[in-house]
Amino acid sequence: MAKDVILNPPAYSLGEFTLDTAYTSRELSQARADLGTEIARGFKLNIPFLSAAMQAVTGPELATELARCGGLGVIYCSQPTPSEAEMVRQVKMGAVRAEEYTYPFQPLLDGQGRLKVGAAINTKDYAERVPALVEAGVDILFVDSSHGNTEYQKETIEFVKQHYPELPIVGGNIINVDGVNRLVAAGADGVKVGMGIGSICITTDVKATGKGQASAVMECVAARNQLPKYIPVTADGGIETAREMCIALALGADAVMLGKYFARFEEAPGGKLSRADFLNIFPQMGNKLDPAIEYLKEYWGEGSLRARIHREAQYRYGQNEFAEGVDGYTEYAGPLKENLSRTMTKLIKSMHDAGANSVSELHERAVVRLASARSMSEAHAHDLISYRKASLF
Ligand code: IMP
Repeated sequence: MAKDVILNPPAYSLGEFTLDTAYTSRELSQARADLGTEIARGFKLNIPFLSAAMQAVTGPELATELARCGGLGVIYCSQPTPSEAEMVRQVKMGAVRAEEYTYPFQPLLDGQGRLKVGAAINTKDYAERVPALVEAGVDILFVDSSHGNTEYQKETIEFVKQHYPELPIVGGNIINVDGVNRLVAAGADGVKVGMGIGSICITTDVKATGKGQASAVMECVAARNQLPKYIPVTADGGIETAREMCIALALGADAVMLGKYFARFEEAPGGKLSRADFLNIFPQMGNKLDPAIEYLKEYWGEGSLRARIHREAQYRYGQNEFAEGVDGYTEYAGPLKENLSRTMTKLIKSMHDAGANSVSELHERAVVRLASARSMSEAHAHDLISYRKASLF
């Protein structure tokens, strides 16, 4: 018999919840909405979005554009130290012309007016990698692991805190109370939550480990709320639509980390294919591919075989002989800024419906409810013979 078998409640995903309404006053105007948030003690973002530390998501171009819009890119560590440090350096060199980024975007800048950037580290070569990233000007570190509640991660965080006490570090990924407490005890300034739920992730399929993201966020937020100091929680994985972002934040996450959402944009490193190119490679997809899709982007997991071959990606899932992620395609969505602006508008409208004008007010005021399967089926367009799909992003 296992130490514990939990039959009730089962673990829930973000898509199973709805946000109730509250009184929306005139005070809740879009112009006054505040999407600012903290992702580590003392480290603020202007919008609650981070891009995933993945080869197919966060290169210097996407990190630069996201920081210009007020969020944070996290450069991936599944590459040799010098090339990761070089990517950090390229973001720090990105110039910002103020007139380009008027409301709703406020660039995320350091004390010297340079764009901020994060970088991932692993639990193996941190003694060599961290000094190189610091030298390149990194603003915040993220320990990149699918299972962060380990002695290896504890030692990694302790090393960073001992040598660079002022440099914020986010630990993860964890999915329960013990994970939060141990990472915070090791010195983490923030924690990242999620396992087994990323769009390219097959961790639960192959190893059984993981948890529905809504339940993981709720458990970790509850653990954080018992701590004497406020440790920000970032929800990472399985979050793509404004609706999922809104539920993750309403359940207490301070920010969301997104992989597939950003992989679809022009600035993401993955290759862009036309519909015809794609159908040349996969002719059998001809009648399955949505006729509205004109272009596609490549998107692959850090635990996929492709990531391992690409740029000596030997760390996060290094010793495994099996894949924990897949390699595929997603719909191309155009430039980051336009898409992000639309997502932010949706998020602000959701917050207003819930009577909140900021992420912290959403935490205080949101009423989130588990929905029945039948009521959720009515959340989608239904009972029509034909309709044109609207974008959920
Ligand atoms: P997405 O936003 O649903 O696409 O999920 C992105 C997140 O999935 C990343 O931030 C990682 O935490 C996680 N992830 C990245 N690569 C892999 C993988 O190969 N297997 C499992 N999880 C992954």
